[in-house]
Amino acid sequence: MGREQIVCEHRIREAKGSDMSDDNAGFAIRGTFMHAPRREEVEILEDAVVSVDAAGSIDGLFRPGEAGHAEALAEGRRRGVLTELPEGRCVLPGMVDLHIHAPQWPQLGKCLHLPLEEWLVRYTFPLEARYADSVFAERVYTSLVETLLANGTTTAVYYATVHLQSTMRLADICLARGQRAFVGKVAMDDPEQCPDYYRDPSAAAAIAGTRDLIAYVRTLPGNESALVRPMITPRFIPSCTDPLLEGLGALAGESGCFVQTHCSEGDWEHAFVLERYGRTDTQSLDDFGLLRRGTILGHGILLSGEDMEMIGEARAGISHCPLSNYYFSNAVFPLRAALDKGVRVGLGTDIAGGASPSLLDICRHAVNASRALEDGVNPALDAAERGRPGSRVDFRTAFWLATAGGADALDLPVGRFEPGCSFDAMLVDTRRPGSNLVVWPDADSLEDVLQKIVYNAGRDDIRKVWVQGRLVAEK
Ligand code: GUN
Ligand code: FE
Repeated sequence: MGREQIVCEHRIREAKGSDMSDDNAGFAIRGTFMHAPRREEVEILEDAVVSVDAAGSIDGLFRPGEAGHAEALAEGRRRGVLTELPEGRCVLPGMVDLHIHAPQWPQLGKCLHLPLEEWLVRYTFPLEARYADSVFAERVYTSLVETLLANGTTTAVYYATVHLQSTMRLADICLARGQRAFVGKVAMDDPEQCPDYYRDPSAAAAIAGTRDLIAYVRTLPGNESALVRPMITPRFIPSCTDPLLEGLGALAGESGCFVQTHCSEGDWEHAFVLERYGRTDTQSLDDFGLLRRGTILGHGILLSGEDMEMIGEARAGISHCPLSNYYFSNAVFPLRAALDKGVRVGLGTDIAGGASPSLLDICRHAVNASRALEDGVNPALDAAERGRPGSRVDFRTAFWLATAGGADALDLPVGRFEPGCSFDAMLVDTRRPGSNLVVWPDADSLEDVLQKIVYNAGRDDIRKVWVQGRLVAEK
């Protein structure tokens, strides 16, 4: 345990023991903090003190030598609420997963040999139909939320299924486990595109179910701080009728709820929407009132420059899901182009289109995909024609996307260590025996350590996870 103070460990455990009900008096941590407050920029705060108030928000951040550092240390010690981290441990912001299909969790790591439109019909709709059984839903959703928290995902944006009851269970589980979450009842009513055994019976029923979910989540006992929020979730344009899209757009305006959907994900879907409306996904979503501040658009691979401008102006965001995109999207998302146009972007696992629950994994894929786009992938072409110059991003941008970038897309005060932000964070042990994360203290700078965490840390290296100051996972 090194310099870590037993007394503080005890207090944190006490809070956990009492159902982690946040009645502790706040705490402080002294050690190394690493974050990426702005795109392409990481900041390492060595020997800093971060103090967290009783409500779980950061109320002080003190660098050594700065006014307040010595006082914060003394105050934390006096009150017995200071944890001093030993060498080799560092605190990073918790991560924000902007795109998860919770019901697809049992399908992780299989069935990825078919294109999207066949995968949906052959595997995914039959699996999602099983969530008519809310006991099954509870088992799966509990396993998923636990796994994501253990991997450092402190904010999760979920698609559930068409079923209201099991979607409410997902909200209950996030709240009970302490995960910050957006939860959507999937809306899909078009009998031409959705099977009879798995769809909303009508546009009106889908809208009523969405309304019911919003009311339920907003009045959940214990959710007064809106840790868990409802989301309006038309699956994607092909699965919805016009009256459903119109109704959900109106509901978004009326309720102020954020919206999520898939947008220009791949060739089939993009062409389907163009054929139906003579407009792109982005234009069509805007026509229905669904392109709004806080709307999270999944994928966005085939967006035009004009689409990106519309998304940027609307202050909507894109969930970039690079792992899933290799399977379903037919191309690489032009991440740098979107960022350069001022579009808000964060990362998504897209479980189970992407076969990993780890956002650190997704950071790696975001870097790799950007490199593939920059250089191109067809060796039969001349180098000058092969790729798209100016496309690459590095680990700094990837980590920013996974934290502050995702938080900004949701207008959430998380993802950075700044006074006023919620303390959503993860403690990484960089010296764990048997880990793939191997740090050489005499050869690695602290920025190298962060880079190595992004490239090589795994679930077991993440020793503790907090959401709003509450300890929600510990190994
Ligand atoms: N488009 C419509 N539904 C889905 C889904 O479940 N996953 C992905 N990746 N794209 C979709
Ligand atoms: Fe998806």
